[in-house]
Amino acid sequence: MSKTPSRGMGPEYRPEEQRPIATVSTEVPHPNVHVLSQTPQLIALLTMIRDVNTNRADFIFYSNRIIRLLVEEGLNHLPVVQHTINTPVGISYSGVKFEGKICGVSIMRAGEAMEQGLRDCCRSVRIGKILIQRDEDTAQPRLFYDKLPEDIAQRYVLLLDPMLATGGSALMAVQVLLDKGVPEDRILFLNLIASPEGAENFARKVPKVRVVTAFVDQGLDDKNYIVPGLGDFGDRFYTM
Ligand code: URA
Repeated sequence: MSKTPSRGMGPEYRPEEQRPIATVSTEVPHPNVHVLSQTPQLIALLTMIRDVNTNRADFIFYSNRIIRLLVEEGLNHLPVVQHTINTPVGISYSGVKFEGKICGVSIMRAGEAMEQGLRDCCRSVRIGKILIQRDEDTAQPRLFYDKLPEDIAQRYVLLLDPMLATGGSALMAVQVLLDKGVPEDRILFLNLIASPEGAENFARKVPKVRVVTAFVDQGLDDKNYIVPGLGDFGDRFYTM
């Protein structure tokens, strides 16, 4: 299990000794794994959802705020083209607009919790679903169901799953997308918390998929829960 680094948190203008120390994300030495900037705001939001005493309403609220940050950052990884417009004062402004079509694909059921955050940023975005569960006999992930936009091969795909533990389900979901003709470098995986071994395994096997995660944690326990983690994301978001 890796040792997670710590850092003084708080505004830059505060002297170092007045900044409380927080554990921050482990770095992953892979060019396509992007960890959100470890700002005081992000760490405070993560602290809320990690807390065993946080109730379900707060868990949903604070998770949604992190999901929003992930989606906004994820969109920065999509290509843009030059777009010049005129403003109401009669002056032109050279800006950009997104190039190409996108869709979301959630890995059920926890990934479905990220769909609203995507919809909030991308109006009327199409969202497909993939259901992968652990086969009780083999302990390996098994594909049970997928329903994806027909033209998915022509889209950038934002794959949604909040927890990346061993990487088994996410890798199987990527394989489903590749089999449908989606080029590997058009897949963007949005994730709240990853284990270092899961992130490493994923990045090694599908190196062209971009990962945007809020935090790479310490490791996995003997039941493959991420530690310190937050427990079962789906249970805390939907049923607890
Ligand atoms: N899925 C979860 O919900 N939590 C973990 O810690 C690992 C996988």
